[in-house]
Amino acid sequence: MSPISLTRHLIEEQHAGHINADLRLLIEVVARACKSISIAVGKGALGGVLGEAGTGNVQGEAQKKLDVLSNEILLEANAWGGHLAGLASEEMDHSQAIPDAARRGNYLLLFDPLDGSSNIDVNVSVGTIFSVLRCPEGVTEPRDEDFLQPGTAQVAAGYTVYGPSTLLVLTTGHGTHVFTLDREIGSFLLTRRDVRIPADTQEFAINMSNQRHWEPATQRYIADLLAGKTGPRGKDFNMRWVASMVADVHRILSRGGIFMYPLDAKCREKGGRLRLMYEANPMAFVVEQAGGAASTGRQRLLEVQPTALHQRVPVFLGSRNEVAAAVGYHADG
Ligand code: F6P
Repeated sequence: MSPISLTRHLIEEQHAGHINADLRLLIEVVARACKSISIAVGKGALGGVLGEAGTGNVQGEAQKKLDVLSNEILLEANAWGGHLAGLASEEMDHSQAIPDAARRGNYLLLFDPLDGSSNIDVNVSVGTIFSVLRCPEGVTEPRDEDFLQPGTAQVAAGYTVYGPSTLLVLTTGHGTHVFTLDREIGSFLLTRRDVRIPADTQEFAINMSNQRHWEPATQRYIADLLAGKTGPRGKDFNMRWVASMVADVHRILSRGGIFMYPLDAKCREKGGRLRLMYEANPMAFVVEQAGGAASTGRQRLLEVQPTALHQRVPVFLGSRNEVAAAVGYHADG
């Protein structure tokens, strides 16, 4: 049997009544833009796209040339599709309404155009994360506040990983599916349908260099993991940290694990390190749809009511029993 393309998969989702034609086409446009980003990332130094852009984003982070280029590719691809009312990106201070009012559709798109960008210049996997919301009824020119919907309101979300192969991981609320880019044909082909994350794990992902800055609850939890077989958890744990959320989450999606970016003294004032709207929420949707769990440590991530477009949150996600164990340490304090 010939492999199922993303296009065919989305048509099947439409026929099943899971998505409408507009959402189908919107996801196709995002996927097409990600193919262009994949090509740019793949050229590396030969494309003249490595290194700093010499600018900073709203979060005060130095932008890489590929951050800026990926943002432009996604903006350009989506501005004229007719399915979106507005867009917001990690790389832009504010959201943008689609310029031509006659071409505005019913959806809002949020994205981190190139996640893990500290890894670009060292040839380690990076990716794009995206989230789709409905534009609130009656809003013709969406503004930042129209994007401030909890993760439970997402109608589609996913990410790509630009690694040894380029992958697209997608959910529209009916399971999580993985597509691999066939570079010769230029199509995303379904390679794993309905991924399930094992409920238990012996692997965790965290930036251990922040240990001394963590809250006492996080200190206790990680100490118990590190204590291994003879400690309270009664088993040995392994640790992995790529420092690209897309790569770390994809490993967990593939074989289980828990990914954490908890609160620490350095990011406490900002509310956390990772961004709620275009990092944590889409990943939480993908992970929950694969049978995993996602929490701030104190609350289900998807139920956090956002108050700002670039809001940050603590993140614990992955194998559901392990996330529950981590939450058990944090819930009281
Ligand atoms: O966007 C933030 C990000 O680059 C994530 O992709 C990644 O998980 C994290 O930051 C890496 O953080 P650190 O630099 O602390 O390892």
